[in-house]
Amino acid sequence: MTGRICGTGSALPHLLVTNDDLSKIMDTSDEWISSRTGIKTRHLATEETTTGLAVEAAKKALEDAGITAEELDLIIAASVTADYLFPTLSCEVQGAIGAVNATAFDLSAGCSGFLFSLATAQAYIQSGICKKALLIGAEVLSKIMDWEDRSTCVLFGDGAGAAVVCADEEGIRSIIKGSDGAKGMALNCKNRPVNNPYQKNQAELSYTYMNGQEVYKFAVRTVPQCIEEVLQNAQMNAEDVDYFIVHQANIRIIEAVAKRLKQPMEKFPINLTECGNISAASVPILLDTVNRRGMMHRGDKIVLAGFGAGLTWGAAALTW
Ligand code: COA
Repeated sequence: MTGRICGTGSALPHLLVTNDDLSKIMDTSDEWISSRTGIKTRHLATEETTTGLAVEAAKKALEDAGITAEELDLIIAASVTADYLFPTLSCEVQGAIGAVNATAFDLSAGCSGFLFSLATAQAYIQSGICKKALLIGAEVLSKIMDWEDRSTCVLFGDGAGAAVVCADEEGIRSIIKGSDGAKGMALNCKNRPVNNPYQKNQAELSYTYMNGQEVYKFAVRTVPQCIEEVLQNAQMNAEDVDYFIVHQANIRIIEAVAKRLKQPMEKFPINLTECGNISAASVPILLDTVNRRGMMHRGDKIVLAGFGAGLTWGAAALTW
């Protein structure tokens, strides 16, 4: 038995903010953002919450998979911007959709969160612990951005993606993941400071910090390596792959991956132009877009790859 992705869903906030819109509130330009990243617009939450977006994506994924919430025995949500420290986002979703037979927990692995969730669900399925899992990547990153730091806030967006993974004969052929905690501070956001009767701190809010060039170098080195490794494990060649669904952070990173794998950009669907980087939600949202456009057919070979805070990375090779 292996895990097969049998349904996808996604949800985006209604507000679409262009690069030109941002240039009216900070010292930036469409030319700077699009030439360095490929990003043109991003959806930003106004009334929407991380939970609300996650629930909408989850319901659509269940409908696409043709199963009920009661059939789920596992829910994993990956997010760095859940609405509550507790209860977890996954428990909130469980309550909202009525998945009464599922165990729900959250997983934090930055932008690799969806790949780490998929690896965890795969281990549960292969060991017989569960048969039907709901995986969610959901972020409202705009709440942890410093809107006075133009080098980070223009890159990110908000949204949620979900996938149902069921035990089946065919599906995931190989999945790998890794982390390098020694480089973690290259992309960080502090939690609340200690504040108790014995250690008084002025409760200052912390926002996302990124060393863009360090993260860029990490991504262009690590992503092709982990894709090559997962393909080798799955006994596949890059030429066999129909689509590479790669974390959407920067078009130049994706172009570098395509070049290293000697594969045409047509095999790399893109939504960062519209959505920017949505961390753990990026891969499942793109997967849902490609699925709903009818671009993938049963038997197609797909590679998923993520990278990000931690630093972390992961890749999966699967049959659709
Ligand atoms: N608008 C206009 N100018 C900006 C700007 C903005 N939004 N943000 C930064 N700048 C300026 C800088 O202040 C700097 O000016 P200076 O030379 O006068 O000091 C200049 O542009 C160059 O900045 P730099 O950081 O060197 O640009 P870069 O070519 O490295 O591109 C990134 C920056 C962030 C686009 C790039 O490093 C990157 O994509 N890194 C990877 C990020 C990533 O993938 N993160 C997600 C991981 S999950």
